[in-house]
Amino acid sequence: MLSGTQFIKQSVSLHLFFARIMKEHAIFMKLGFTPKNSTFAEQADDFNVKFEALLKEVVDLSKGVVSPDVLKSGEIVTPYTLNAEKATQYFTGVKIDTKITVEEAILNGHISVEPNPTLESKLGMVNKKAIELISGLIQLKKMVLSDVLSCKITTSNYPMMLEHITEEAELYLHMVKKLQNQEEIDSEKQSLNQIIFWNEIMAEHSKFIRGLLDPSENELIKLANKFANEFDKLEEESKAAISTPRKIDKVTRDSLKCTKEIQDFKTQGTQGILTCKIKSIIIPLLSDHVLREANHYLRLLKKYNRIEQ
Ligand SMILES: [Fe+2]
Ligand SMILES: [Fe+2]
Repeated sequence: MLSGTQFIKQSVSLHLFFARIMKEHAIFMKLGFTPKNSTFAEQADDFNVKFEALLKEVVDLSKGVVSPDVLKSGEIVTPYTLNAEKATQYFTGVKIDTKITVEEAILNGHISVEPNPTLESKLGMVNKKAIELISGLIQLKKMVLSDVLSCKITTSNYPMMLEHITEEAELYLHMVKKLQNQEEIDSEKQSLNQIIFWNEIMAEHSKFIRGLLDPSENELIKLANKFANEFDKLEEESKAAISTPRKIDKVTRDSLKCTKEIQDFKTQGTQGILTCKIKSIIIPLLSDHVLREANHYLRLLKKYNRIEQ
């Protein structure tokens, strides 16, 4: 059973991270359709607008109640998010409310939160709205994937990417539902499941990056491939730890080490894309997006590994 203040803290950190992630998935989907599938593009854009509104609402409710470690982690915004949004708007014409990003960058962290029943009930409504929105977006992602796999349509998003963003949405939905049932989402009991999930996600990011770099970017492609292999291995090892719990500590440490390395790789990648030094077909906002997901995973791993942040 969650206390009122735990409910507040966990709801805001969950949405600050994931509502932005969903909004960007909708943008990536929208940009991937051909002119023939403009109806799908409109549906994706509708989710972009709705998640943006949800995020804005959460940012307004977050003032004074976000944990400093969440803000510090770089999972909400990074030093590159604003420029990545501006570059993405410039290249594609997609509309992005960058004021939200500016506001998020100046949010202050608070360790202790006072009980606040009004805020609790407002966040309860946000959670309810989020459940509806995420479920709708999952449906759209699954429909698009199924049409791609049955060769009814084509998009510039890999089928694996469509599956990947569906899985992220499903995790978000699962956690919001738990919060609405007053259940803990931050407990260490769920650590192994989170480690398995995010190791797979990191492996897939490496594979997307490998496939979206210009074929002439040999060194970066080799590095991305190295990360893909390492995280594939870590995913297997973390799955094996389900039946051998004594291996959990080691796989947590190894995942932490590898995630720090991929965080560095993604940071350099985002810088390189924003300064036009890397040749690729990576949308600038996608490079910042995958960096934020690594930052989120790194915060979780540090917590599981009890390392001082
Ligand atoms: Fe994502
Ligand atoms: Fe991802």
